Amino acid sequence: MNPDIPLQLLGGITAREFLRDYWQKKPLLIRQAIPDFESPIDADELAGLALEEEVESRLVIEHGERPWELRRGPFAEDAFSTLPEREWTLLVQAVDQFVPEVAELLEHFRFLPSWRIDDVMISFAAPGGSVGPHFDNYDVFLLQAQGKRNWKIGQMCNSESPLLPHADLRILAEFEQSEEWVLEPGDMLYLPPRLAHFGIAEDDCMTYSVGFRAPSAAEVLTHFTDFLSQYLTDEERYTDADAQPVSDPHQIQGDALDRLKSLLAEHMSDERMLLTWFGQFMTEPRYPEMVAGEDLAEEDFISSLEDGAILVRNPSARMAWSEVDDDVLLFASGQSRYLPGKLRELLKLVCSADALHSENLGAWLADEDGRDLLCELVKQGSLGFADE
Ligand code: SIN
Ligand code: CO
Repeated sequence: MNPDIPLQLLGGITAREFLRDYWQKKPLLIRQAIPDFESPIDADELAGLALEEEVESRLVIEHGERPWELRRGPFAEDAFSTLPEREWTLLVQAVDQFVPEVAELLEHFRFLPSWRIDDVMISFAAPGGSVGPHFDNYDVFLLQAQGKRNWKIGQMCNSESPLLPHADLRILAEFEQSEEWVLEPGDMLYLPPRLAHFGIAEDDCMTYSVGFRAPSAAEVLTHFTDFLSQYLTDEERYTDADAQPVSDPHQIQGDALDRLKSLLAEHMSDERMLLTWFGQFMTEPRYPEMVAGEDLAEEDFISSLEDGAILVRNPSARMAWSEVDDDVLLFASGQSRYLPGKLRELLKLVCSADALHSENLGAWLADEDGRDLLCELVKQGSLGFADE
């Protein structure tokens, strides 16, 4: 993707300009980012998803005395018929994993690494509905899909920002409004992490949130060190073969810290391990149970493809790839696999194509490593045959 082409999605600026001036820095309102956008799913279908066991959903209801009550899904069918006329919001997480037309929306965001994208959350609110003034720790693009929403933005927040006493929701105690807009279908608002925002539905209102993910420093440290430790033997430990006589046996001296620092540095600077862990971590599926593989024989698999079968990416799978010296490393749904560099173009195709078939796979179907890779991805559940 050429980063210097002006994008309608970004209001006519280029991806390069957006990344330089706005991404992680400041909000951007884009009128008609997706002109006349029409939601591929309506309020009833969204409510239908919220009944499903495997779908994460929430209802936020505003009562006069008990503002912003949170109810968690899955919901019973009558949960919606008893709702008041105004002031409630239904939020459904990761709709892109359940509705392919919603997943297609992510194609607009290919100027950002796909492994930074978390999910598309969709909210439907009755007039006056909101989830209260709050901040998120992630970047988000808020696309108006139906009706109008009034968005107010406020101050930059952090973990010290005062919150209302609320058991389930993080609602800001103070909101210092700086700007306000009414968004109509197709309009989009980009918000950097930690910027206070408050969106109130003006009528029956549907908003898509394209949310991003970034591991916290605490997550990086705990998960990377857990990953590393699996490969360390018990013999590898603190050593002090160079120790000098001590003047006070109870004192921990600087030389002990130096030895610890070099022990840590030796492991922490292992770039291969870091890359392997990071790729696995960032491609871990949100719902691992939805990435179930199937057993199949490679000959049957290849003949199905040759006979016109189509492979598609499991919507719950995440994939990424990287280069290591002359090899390539494929990450698929939390697993990694070193592959010969000649498979680079196949990896790119597997990560980006909507569908794989004999036409776009072409000569790869005759390559033993290529065939083996495709077959493994089906066995692992990241790819699957499209339903006829
Ligand atoms: C909403 O869609 O109502 C809330 C989205 C958000 O503020 O993160
Ligand atoms: Co938010």
